[in-house]
Amino acid sequence: MKKRILGKNLEVSEIGLGCMGLSFSLPPFPEKKESIKFLLEAYNEGVTFFDTAEIYGPYINEELIGEAFKDIRDEVVIATKFGFSYDDNNNVIGVDSSRKNIIRMVDSSLKRLKTTYIDLLYQHRVDPNTPIEDVADTMKILIKEGKIKHWGLSEASANTIRKANEICPLTAVQSEYSMFWRNVEKEILPTLEELNIGFVPFSPLGKGFLTGNIKPGNKFLKGDFRNTVPRFNNPDYLEKNYELVKYLEIIANKKNTSTASIALAWLLHKKDWIVPIPGTKKLNRLVENISSTQIIFSTSELNEIDKKLNEIKILGNRYNDVYENLIDK
Ligand SMILES: NC(=O)c1ccc[n+]([C@@H]2O[C@H](COP(=O)([O-])OP(=O)(O)OC[C@H]3O[C@@H](n4cnc5c(N)ncnc54)[C@H](OP(=O)(O)O)[C@@H]3O)[C@@H](O)[C@H]2O)c1
Repeated sequence: MKKRILGKNLEVSEIGLGCMGLSFSLPPFPEKKESIKFLLEAYNEGVTFFDTAEIYGPYINEELIGEAFKDIRDEVVIATKFGFSYDDNNNVIGVDSSRKNIIRMVDSSLKRLKTTYIDLLYQHRVDPNTPIEDVADTMKILIKEGKIKHWGLSEASANTIRKANEICPLTAVQSEYSMFWRNVEKEILPTLEELNIGFVPFSPLGKGFLTGNIKPGNKFLKGDFRNTVPRFNNPDYLEKNYELVKYLEIIANKKNTSTASIALAWLLHKKDWIVPIPGTKKLNRLVENISSTQIIFSTSELNEIDKKLNEIKILGNRYNDVYENLIDK
């Protein structure tokens, strides 16, 4: 697979793998052995960029990555995230980007990842109680110690990105971006372009919606995070929003591919410093997602798609109120 550069010099495969669903948010979760096998298969297909986080489990996801790549550590780029605190039963109790919590996380994450360095460490959510300048200072220390190579932010505002980047240059920002959620186009992408910071769209398949598998009347398994998401749990919204998938089916038929691939190819065409991280736990889907790198859109095709996307009104929030309140505004 071709490579792309995030920030100044972090080289990654042009499609990464979102590993969250192996242990968090999107049940059923595969057995540990199956997950490790799958991660190595992804590497064999050309993926070198793996996205995890402390909270995915918590802890378990990083352990899977550590076990899978311990013998080929330098061949892969591991991105993980800090920023939550937990009670004794591992339930999340809030955000915490204090230096103490970051250092606790990094030291234990390095053990779980079976490595001496993290390629890219993101703050998972901005902490209103810790100035971003202090977080950036902590990152400077971690880079100096060699524990992390690069750092980034997730779902941060343009203002926070600027302040953080002043103190310790950012390599990437990871926020939601897909045909199903395009808010970053207004302010975030222009800011990143100006500051030469890479962008990693999460939920690039609209949490599965753009694959066409979440049809009107769809029921998710118990424990699936999407049960809490207004644009999925309101049947009227789901039915109306499906208009987007129907439009994608038309383009997919023309290009002889799937709607998932069209959604990813559209992201790849936006900027050459954008690297989507679709999540899957199935090899055939991973291969399908990678095939998006072969799709070519002309400028007029892209303009036509964007014109149509502007016409399709998407109904319902992408998060419930609890998660919505964690977004840096
Ligand atoms: N920074 C953050 O706050 C944040 C938030 C959310 C996610 N993320 C990261 O972004 C990654 C991806 O996001 P996401 O998992 O929320 O959403 P996504 O990648 O948009 O969609 C994942 C869903 O699509 C399904 N899928 C994937 N490829 C498919 C295909 N070709 N055909 C049919 N279905 C397909 C997956 O099911 P199967 O697994 O069953 O294939 C899964 O249900 C996560 O793994 C995580 O690393 C970060």
